[in-house]
Amino acid sequence: MKNSRREFIVQSSLGAGALLAAPLVAQANPGVSFSQSNVGDTLKVALIGCGGRGTGAIIQALSTKENIQLVAMADAFKDRLDDCYKSVMNSRAKDTSAKAVPVNQKVNVPEDHKFVGFDGYKQAMALADVVILTTPPGFRPYHFEEAVRLGKQIFMEKPVATDPAGIQRVLAAAKIAKEKKLNVVVGLQRHYQNSYRDLMKRVQDGQIGDVVSASCWWNNDGVWVKPRKEGQTEMEYQMRNWYYFNWICGDHITEQHIHNIDVINWAKNGYPVRARGTGGREVRKGKEYGEIFDHHIVEFEYADGTILNSQCRHIPGTWTKVDEHLVGTKGKVLFDSAKILDLKGNVNYAFDKKTKENNPYQTEHDELWATVAAGEYKFADAENGAYSTMTSILGRMATYSGQIIEWDKAINSGINITPSRFAWDADMPLKPDANGLYPVAVPGKTKYF
Ligand SMILES: NC(=O)c1ccc[n+]([C@@H]2O[C@H](COP(=O)([O-])OP(=O)(O)OC[C@H]3O[C@@H](n4cnc5c(N)ncnc54)[C@H](O)[C@@H]3O)[C@@H](O)[C@H]2O)c1
Repeated sequence: MKNSRREFIVQSSLGAGALLAAPLVAQANPGVSFSQSNVGDTLKVALIGCGGRGTGAIIQALSTKENIQLVAMADAFKDRLDDCYKSVMNSRAKDTSAKAVPVNQKVNVPEDHKFVGFDGYKQAMALADVVILTTPPGFRPYHFEEAVRLGKQIFMEKPVATDPAGIQRVLAAAKIAKEKKLNVVVGLQRHYQNSYRDLMKRVQDGQIGDVVSASCWWNNDGVWVKPRKEGQTEMEYQMRNWYYFNWICGDHITEQHIHNIDVINWAKNGYPVRARGTGGREVRKGKEYGEIFDHHIVEFEYADGTILNSQCRHIPGTWTKVDEHLVGTKGKVLFDSAKILDLKGNVNYAFDKKTKENNPYQTEHDELWATVAAGEYKFADAENGAYSTMTSILGRMATYSGQIIEWDKAINSGINITPSRFAWDADMPLKPDANGLYPVAVPGKTKYF
């Protein structure tokens, strides 16, 4: 594990192409014990954002072999928190080792440790050693900042922001997290998946030569809609339907396709310097779909001229594909089928998925919690999480505007699409018109610079 990680050296805060994209750690520093976090015998965890992923992540955390207790929960909505609590109480431990105990025996969340609303995260975090940040990504910069300020160990889901201003907040907090030696794992779980780790090591060992071209896809049907209810404020409507609003979601190029884009950054050991692309709303045009596009096709260009062709689409009835491919000077990698081919298409290597693949969602928790329990510092995923999130935002800016968008200009733009206040009666920057339709970006007309 330790040996599979490389030093993460930030050479410049500006030139993306010059940055090394080592996704995980760096500064592996086993043996360093926490001075800030007061970790006792039982590790206390707080869950911030008790939806689908939050429920999964806390069950995975409680299913590790470590001595952990869920002590606090926070969600914007009481119904979401209550549903999550019920699911966790009814779950069985996934860990089959002798030390495994049922998940619900590791839960101790009295009513006054369940926090509802926008600010509950602060109280919940204060009660814990480790925090799990699984709200939609628009809140991540604020929650991550607070967790770092309090000196907590952190698991946070991807994406880590939705706009360049949020990225800068995460980068600043990531720097402090490193100084404080706080473990930070980001839920870009391919970094914790055996097939990806194995194939990426082979890429880095030169088995396909230099990577000169890449493709990646997240093409599928799309997600849920929650119909507007009478009496809902605009903030509540957007929060319930967060997927369709950029300040909280980032559009699906950021929310989902980040996984695939991040794999190519990992292989390239850097981040693109510019992006150009096309996109729009071909079938998902109704008022229930907020402002996001249903497809984005982007060419990301890296400093050495390598082009990543990226596609993401939410259109039912079309072909589906979630995958990443690399083309090198000596061969190719197909990540989903876990194969390395020569340039003629012959299979040179196949990872045995049937016997060797793992559940990366469980592994990311197994590794984080074992590290925290041992008092070690190994994980510093936040910077790569921020830069890969920024890559997806760069793509969105390219498709929305129809312009070539330069990395340096975009990441330093200060663009901030977040409401100025998080409250149920907040004045939302994006409002529906008289027909309930939201303003949508128009390539050629939408401008950032
Ligand atoms: N790594 C993966 O493969 C993967 C899979 C699914 C989701 N995710 C990520 O997990 C995050 C959550 O996704 P989800 O599918 O669980 O969504 P969800 O809607 O099911 O859950 C989000 C929860 O956060 C709550 N919430 C919203 N704003 C909040 C705030 N300010 N404070 C506290 N709680 C708040 C919501 O009420 C909801 O319960 C997203 O960033 C998503 O991209 C990652």
